[in-house]
Amino acid sequence: MITTTGLTKVYRSHGRETVALDGVDLHVREGEVYGVIGQSGAGKSSLIRCVNLLERPTSGTVTVDGQDLTALAGRGPRAGRELRRARSRIGMVFQHFNLLSTRTVQDNVELPLEILGKSGKERSRKALELLDLVGLADKARAYPAQLSGGQKQRVGIARALAGDPKVLLSDEATSALDPETTRSILTLLRDLNRQLGLTVLLITHEMDVVKSVCDSAALMEKGRIVESGTVGDLLATPGSRLAAALFPVGGEATGADRTVLDVTFRGEAAAQPVVSRLARTYNIDISILGAAVDTVGGLQVGRMRIELPGRYEDNVVPIGFLREQGLQIDVVGHESATLVKEAAK
Ligand SMILES: Nc1ncnc2c1ncn2[C@@H]1O[C@H](COP(=O)(O)OP(=O)(O)O)[C@@H](O)[C@H]1O
Ligand SMILES: [Mg+2]
Repeated sequence: MITTTGLTKVYRSHGRETVALDGVDLHVREGEVYGVIGQSGAGKSSLIRCVNLLERPTSGTVTVDGQDLTALAGRGPRAGRELRRARSRIGMVFQHFNLLSTRTVQDNVELPLEILGKSGKERSRKALELLDLVGLADKARAYPAQLSGGQKQRVGIARALAGDPKVLLSDEATSALDPETTRSILTLLRDLNRQLGLTVLLITHEMDVVKSVCDSAALMEKGRIVESGTVGDLLATPGSRLAAALFPVGGEATGADRTVLDVTFRGEAAAQPVVSRLARTYNIDISILGAAVDTVGGLQVGRMRIELPGRYEDNVVPIGFLREQGLQIDVVGHESATLVKEAAK
């Protein structure tokens, strides 16, 4: 549904160049919720603004629903009209809601429909239908200042849906909201995704957001996507930093000559008996540093962090034993540990 190839964005201001996007290949499938995560300055907002051509990419292509938007940008009035039409099919939700304070809730939702030239009757019918969909049917006549943050974001979402988009882009839509409101907005996005078959590309710096609503995720760093995939695949990828951050089990090595492993298992499988058998077979003391079971991207996943005496080289055989039992084993390395700490901040 959304594809970018070799997307770059270079900002030039005051004689300085900032490379915000450095060759991004993104693939978002129809009907999925796709999360982009990364630290501040990684290029997440630039990516989303390039996807709907709010920002003109420096090079590369953006295709949404089979239409090459980059080919339309800046190619005369006819292409301009087509680009505007294509963009009206891409909804956008903002961190600070961007509502007009002098307009009622209903009039805010009607705004994109006015721009599309819809009749008053049609606008009003559509706006009321959308307000009902986001749970704000009784607030049509209120002004933004009379609403809570969560309600304002619901208006923002209703407005984003006015053009019957197939794609919804969301740039940190919940980062100005408290945790409970965040959850309710995320549930709404997830419901809209399911009910309307809406493809959602959302940007966040919170791992919890990815965990609770995303089917797929990408990690951005310095203008590049350094990891991406379905949440299930990421969890099954040894050494995945996103997986480690999605599912931190905690617990640090208790000494220098120790090997720390993250043992991941799916669904009904259990790691405990296998770990006990390992201890008996090799006659070693194994400490459990942490354990958790969670639902990630709709999958039940368990993770246990264990510690074996000796360095990695001394534990190749026990690690092989665990892998033979069908468990996924990650040797806890430096990189994943760092990302977990960042995500926990
Ligand atoms: N309009 C702009 N002009 C110049 N530099 C910009 C502009 N927008 C973003 N940048 C720079 O591009 C980089 C990526 O920014 P951004 O896409 O906002 O990242 P993120 O959303 O991940 O925090 C940063 O170094 C930022 O300072
Ligand atoms: Mg940003």
